[in-house]
Amino acid sequence: MPKIEFLASAAGSAKQAEAPDGGVLLEICDDALAPIPFSCRSASCATCHVEVLEGSELLEPAEESEQDLLDVIGGPPNSRLACQAIVKPGPGLIRLRSLDAG
Ligand code: FES
Repeated sequence: MPKIEFLASAAGSAKQAEAPDGGVLLEICDDALAPIPFSCRSASCATCHVEVLEGSELLEPAEESEQDLLDVIGGPPNSRLACQAIVKPGPGLIRLRSLDAG
């Protein structure tokens, strides 16, 4: 089952969550009280911009609306919007770090 580790942008404690069936990363973050900030939750604001440090292959490819905003905001090539990403079911570890500067 995928395990997801969340790191806040500042050097803080990590939080982990299990996502046995995969699913919407936003909901997994909410359930885990993950240190990933959200605002619009609809691929508009980039507050939820995260760098995928490990396990990017365990996420479904970005949909057009997510990719459009990623193209505008730039950042690391392995970055995603946590409000849009979908976690695939299956084993593995996904490590995410918030890129929100606020
Ligand atoms: S919360 Fe605004 S783009 Fe994800």
